[in-house]
Amino acid sequence: MDFKKAVADILTIALGDEDIYESLETPRDVKLGDYAFPCFRLAKTLKKSPAVIAAQIKEKVENKSEFVARIETAGAYVNFFLDKGAAAKAVISEIIDKGERYGRGSAGRGAVTIDFSSPNVAKPFHIGHLRTTVIGNALYNIYDFIGYKSVGINHLGDWGTQFGKMITAYVKWGDREEIEKKGVKELNRLYVLFHREAKEDKSLEDEARAWFIKMQNGDEDALSVWRWFVEISLREFNKIYRLLDIKFDYFTGESFYNDKMDAVVTELKEKGLLEESDGAMIVNLERYDMPPLMVLRKDGGTLYATRDLATAFYRKEEFNFVKSLYVVGLEQSLHFKQLFKVIELMGYDWDMAHIPFGLVRLEGGKLSTREGQVVLMEELLDEAVKRSKAIIERKNPSLDNKDEVARQVGVGAIIFNDLYNSRIKDVVFSWERILSFDGETGPYVQYTHARARAVLANGGTAAIDADNIDFSILADEFSYETVKLLGAFGDKAIEAAEKCEPYIITRYLVDLAQAFNRFYHENMVLSADAAVKTARLALVFCVKTVLASGLKLIGVAAPEKM
Ligand code: ARG
Repeated sequence: MDFKKAVADILTIALGDEDIYESLETPRDVKLGDYAFPCFRLAKTLKKSPAVIAAQIKEKVENKSEFVARIETAGAYVNFFLDKGAAAKAVISEIIDKGERYGRGSAGRGAVTIDFSSPNVAKPFHIGHLRTTVIGNALYNIYDFIGYKSVGINHLGDWGTQFGKMITAYVKWGDREEIEKKGVKELNRLYVLFHREAKEDKSLEDEARAWFIKMQNGDEDALSVWRWFVEISLREFNKIYRLLDIKFDYFTGESFYNDKMDAVVTELKEKGLLEESDGAMIVNLERYDMPPLMVLRKDGGTLYATRDLATAFYRKEEFNFVKSLYVVGLEQSLHFKQLFKVIELMGYDWDMAHIPFGLVRLEGGKLSTREGQVVLMEELLDEAVKRSKAIIERKNPSLDNKDEVARQVGVGAIIFNDLYNSRIKDVVFSWERILSFDGETGPYVQYTHARARAVLANGGTAAIDADNIDFSILADEFSYETVKLLGAFGDKAIEAAEKCEPYIITRYLVDLAQAFNRFYHENMVLSADAAVKTARLALVFCVKTVLASGLKLIGVAAPEKM
């Protein structure tokens, strides 16, 4: 229930104008109403004074909406005063009726594939992968919420020439037990070692190439080592996904496309898009101010881009997406621009988008690890959980389930912070700030949710029933502010999806939590008279419901107690 939209709608009908919503203003002074419509633009086209037009509009839209209590004109403006009781009734009845389904929409028009997380086998899961993981997961939930069919895909980096190097290093210097014990860290050490040694000894590169050719030819010796690398890596990645409580519909990594690339290469050839260059096959993109996209190496080998081409076609065929999103760091912008251009040149008009994001900067640099520059995700998440556990021990030592709540709060704090700004901005990370219970943080919103639950629990067991509520009680400024925000939830989800910006939800949750805390500070709930208490408890229930739904959308848990 968006009241601004309700007001815009009656104006649209009266004026036959489509752009009302954007031009409706929210006056700073409440004495000027909840929404104000300026008539300057119409005055120009209709060649009448704005004040005359305002008066005419007022007449036309009077008594056209149950939510509007009063309409006044003030100079060039038509001011709308909402009926606060009617607004409260509409929103609260709907939330009571729909519960956690409140706000869900049917704006979706089919499947959206969301390629996210997609770490590289045998390489550490770094903080950039955390960003794609939490942004992608939030978009997955948000698209699903507004009615699309979300398809979450982890495009694991599990194929490529680097595996020839890995196998070479393993055969030369590796130890099976050491890898079993230390996992990706050890695999990465071997990989780094390979590069150091290869500077001196050129034959290593040849050996690596030979191993990769074996892999491509289906050699069981090579493939079994490779498969084991994948398994070792997935063990670690899955630990992180479990901690984050994030799931994928498909784990189709790059190797999945090994037998699906020929078809695309053939089609490129047939469409006259392939050119030879130094023995390699490329798509020339000079006309579009881009370097060529290499599709086949000199030795006939395929590349990351070749696999991404096959991937796009597979996803179109398999899921018939209406939208295909790739949540990948900014540094791959060119790759995706090239990829989308080539698909367009092949004659396909698909809605595909690269969803980039900024870097994570560490305040104070206290997070450095033994590896130096890369922060390992597991360490970061473990640290967050440890710190929230300490806070909980201090604030609420008798809490049940302390370990699980510490996980929800610690991990939630990191996710919330990551999704607090527009994606493209760098995330600045400071433990004190993200774990604070009274900043614009995950713990603050979670705490507000738990507080609402506690108020409800203390309010008695009576079921909340819209028929027993006198909604005019909720006409005070603080209740009303909260009601308006509750009413906007569904539209916020649509906006977040349209812009692919989870922060729209994150900020909304902070606004709602703040409005609720003001409401609770200004209004007695539990000690009020029966009718007042009933009405206010209903509002508390609605806030709790929507905070929980919103947190779920961005992938943050909403513990009942903390
Ligand atoms: N594995 C890549 C990386 O870690 C990301 C893959 C993104 N997805 C894709 N379809 N290219 O940088």
